[in-house]
Amino acid sequence: MRILERLDELYAIGGGPGANRPHGSAEEDAAHVLAAAWMEHASLTVEVDPSGNLIGRAASAGQRLQQSVASEVWVGSHLDTVPRGGRFDGALGVVAGIEAVERAGRGTVAVFRGEEVGCVGSRALVARGGGLPRAFLELHVEQGPVLESAGVPLGVVTAIVGYARGELVFEGRAGHAGTTPMSARQDALVAAADGILRIRGAAQAIEGAVATVGTLEVEPGGSNVIPDRVRISVDARAPDMERLEQLIAAIGFEPDTPTAPVAMAEEPRRFLREEIERLGLPAVELPSGAGHDAGILAAAGVSSAMLFVRSLNGGVSHSPEELSSKQDIELAVGVLTATLARM
Ligand code: GLV
Ligand code: MN
Ligand code: MN
Repeated sequence: MRILERLDELYAIGGGPGANRPHGSAEEDAAHVLAAAWMEHASLTVEVDPSGNLIGRAASAGQRLQQSVASEVWVGSHLDTVPRGGRFDGALGVVAGIEAVERAGRGTVAVFRGEEVGCVGSRALVARGGGLPRAFLELHVEQGPVLESAGVPLGVVTAIVGYARGELVFEGRAGHAGTTPMSARQDALVAAADGILRIRGAAQAIEGAVATVGTLEVEPGGSNVIPDRVRISVDARAPDMERLEQLIAAIGFEPDTPTAPVAMAEEPRRFLREEIERLGLPAVELPSGAGHDAGILAAAGVSSAMLFVRSLNGGVSHSPEELSSKQDIELAVGVLTATLARM
């Protein structure tokens, strides 16, 4: 299957274990070059926008370009990854998007830069104002266990969670690991450890909320030096703005980019449901706990919807164990193509 072969090619770019194409790296660039070649092979007209996003238009869309980006329907996703990421996150939506536009003979594929670091490409696009499409469809792996537990291959996203990212810094006093009595220490890492447990507690206390500390920088970083400065990342999420604000306050950090939860649009959601039902499958609807470029476009007024493909292995994602089946992917590409053709 061409889609799986292309996913393998992308996966090979950064070297293992896992997918390693962080935003801003030569590996992200190489993935964009590869996707541009696939677009050209599909006879799409390829453009790189001022933010580095890659846009490929079917000939019919390309001819009308000047007057009508606002009338286009876009499909797509991203090619950057987290460190040691999975084979499917982002990449599947790009490869499937190229496939759908080629099969439908219409539509536009968008590959956004830096989704994993706060959707920088799609945010830059909406911040520039002009040049937004009429609608956006993002096919993505679920990255959670709902569809696998339900025994269902495809799902339609209702809404994308709100999230906030930032950092916290803990200060202490550097000193000698051998000569400073335990009672006389101001250990920044011990304070950070308390802080991390407090963050977990704050999320546990709010229904539907989650919070993660994924990075830790310890200074000065010697095994025989008491740490005097620790910086931790904070990723906090909740299903609605009220709970997100409650969580941010409970953690006590100032996020860079709090992103409000956003609902997917009714009409493309219905089209996706109808195309799933046409295959004799149940159209399960579910929220997304992950952020997506579709959320950024939706918040900017683009009629946006997301099609989820069942994640196997218990729904694990942001991990090399991320897995979806060839059969489920083929079903999803069929639904995406049919929906794109209808729109
Ligand atoms: C994107 O993968 C996110 O962190 O939600
Ligand atoms: Mn993704
Ligand atoms: Mn991701």
